[in-house]
Amino acid sequence: MAMTERPTIDQTSTVSPRQAAQIQELVRKAAATDGYAALNEAATLALRYDEPATIHLLACCGSELVGYAQVSNTAGNSTGVLVVSPSARRRGVGSALLTQLLENARTPLWIWAMHDTVAAAKLAEKFGLVRARELLIMTRTLAGSPVPAPDIPAQVRIRPFRVGSDESAWLQVNARAFASHPEQGAITRIDLEERMAEPWFDPAGFFLAEADGRVGGFHWTKQHADHRGEVYVLGVDPDAAGGGLGTALLRTGLRHLADMGNTEVQLYVEGDQKRVIGLYADHGFTVTSRDVMYAQPVRDTPEPRLRFKPMDVQEN
Ligand SMILES: CC(C)(COP(=O)(O)OP(=O)(O)OC[C@H]1O[C@@H](n2cnc3c(N)ncnc32)[C@H](O)[C@@H]1OP(=O)(O)O)[C@@H](O)C(=O)NCCC(=O)NCCS
Repeated sequence: MAMTERPTIDQTSTVSPRQAAQIQELVRKAAATDGYAALNEAATLALRYDEPATIHLLACCGSELVGYAQVSNTAGNSTGVLVVSPSARRRGVGSALLTQLLENARTPLWIWAMHDTVAAAKLAEKFGLVRARELLIMTRTLAGSPVPAPDIPAQVRIRPFRVGSDESAWLQVNARAFASHPEQGAITRIDLEERMAEPWFDPAGFFLAEADGRVGGFHWTKQHADHRGEVYVLGVDPDAAGGGLGTALLRTGLRHLADMGNTEVQLYVEGDQKRVIGLYADHGFTVTSRDVMYAQPVRDTPEPRLRFKPMDVQEN
């Protein structure tokens, strides 16, 4: 991109297959430079599934895509992501996209910055956005460090998810476990089905804890390439909290990931969830990185209203 050339920004709620491929290519190029993907799972899925509440912004110079941003106006939140091609950075593309993202946010904008970089912090500061949430990335090795056997509470049976019959029960327990969590607690049946349609989905690695015919908790694991597993979501119904279910589910899932030949496991956890972070630390996880959510301060309050009540067991 020539230094003087201003990008044009196309705005759409429907991404064509050609545009989706261009965006994926831009994200791939940025990841090769930055060492991480700038789009999280929700933003990546939004490229494939049309959602009228999602607005895509494509910054182009001629036919070249130089930046991409997305805002999802769902569940009472406006959550965005933004990435600029490495060859077009420090020329105002990020600022132009963020200006338009703010215009398209129906509620104060929250924007995810994967990893904790100076560039994202400076851009956020320039627009008056404040650091509102941190998502810790914790990892542990499975090689040479066996996971203790789960101590399953009496009356509880841990079993794999049954596709076609467990969806409603899981949606209920997930909503209860994550009632205070803006994204995970708002997961719908459509969101669940989109994730179940992903190539990585395997019900054998999705564990439900059942007692008296009721699902009290779950551990959904995820399989990545390169022998990496993930504690994708771990949740316990508040009614069943404090009885050792979270630990039993965590160990069940970790042992499954080890049996699948994984050598490393990762997870995401909210930075203010001290108890859950402690549970993971007790199981050998250490913080290796963090994602940051920047937020537009809510008018008339000195801090954005983004403090979440602690939960007993919480997702990634
Ligand atoms: C963050 C990112 C979007 C910035 O895009 P960009 O097109 O380079 O941003 P701009 O050129 O509009 O710069 C915006 C401000 O950030 C500052 N900035 C950008 N990159 C910087 C860096 N590497 N170091 C220090 N400051 C930086 C600039 O100084 C600029 O302020 P100024 O114009 O008043 O000097 C880009 O680096 C990127 O895609 N990073 C990876 C994805 C990401 O972190 N997204 C989250 C964004 S919140």
